[in-house]
Amino acid sequence: MLRKPFIAGNWKMNKTPMEAAVLANELKEQLKGHRCEVAVCVPFVDIASVADALKGSGIGVGAQNVHWAASGAFTGEISADMLKACGATYVVIGHSERRQFFGETDESVNKRTNAALAAGLTPIVCVGELLAERESGNTFSVVERQTVAAFAGVAESDVQKVVIAYEPVWAIGTGRTATDEQAEEVVAFIRKNVGLLYGEGAAGALRIQYGGSMNAANAQGLMGQPNIDGGLIGGASLKAPDFAAIVKAADSTM
Ligand code: PGA
Repeated sequence: MLRKPFIAGNWKMNKTPMEAAVLANELKEQLKGHRCEVAVCVPFVDIASVADALKGSGIGVGAQNVHWAASGAFTGEISADMLKACGATYVVIGHSERRQFFGETDESVNKRTNAALAAGLTPIVCVGELLAERESGNTFSVVERQTVAAFAGVAESDVQKVVIAYEPVWAIGTGRTATDEQAEEVVAFIRKNVGLLYGEGAAGALRIQYGGSMNAANAQGLMGQPNIDGGLIGGASLKAPDFAAIVKAADSTM
């Protein structure tokens, strides 16, 4: 099964709309001719300006969260249709920072995933263990629980529309990347779990990214692993040359 590599930037809470447009223009320039799938997931308020700047670049735009309801009394939340209307086609769901600091649960991750799919957005669903969970030997049980929960109610025909990002929490923003083997082991395990839910065909078509201190230097090795189909990039996505180098590494695996 040939899976198209997918590199997504996660800008987190960085860049005003004007600053975002500047970075987007740099990316447009430096990613010319890229062949893998590329997106940048930006703060809500930046989506429109980034989508505008990236027109014709082949680089997609995503949000970093979405509410499951279509509209209503949910102060501070944003719906899938609102994101689409601003130009987003992707959305990061269940990032570990949201799980850790904003009360995101497996259940809310699942609701957001189903809402994104229903609206035609590509959900990038994040899973990954805390350092304590890894050290206590619970990596696989945590990742299995998160993965199975995320897919509740997802139709088999929609499985390929989901992207999973395996992000060991201890590797995020720490400069401590998982080794190629550590990342591959868990990503293969996620694929196996999806296979148990939906069959090997659907699991074989699902794209699974690695995330956590991925950079120009380690991208090639990680993406060279048989089950790793790209990356979710935080820090290194805020500098156009760094992000471009990671995209190049992904292109070279095609
Ligand atoms: P990092 O972040 O690349 O800065 O480690 C990755 C992420 O949080 O998605």
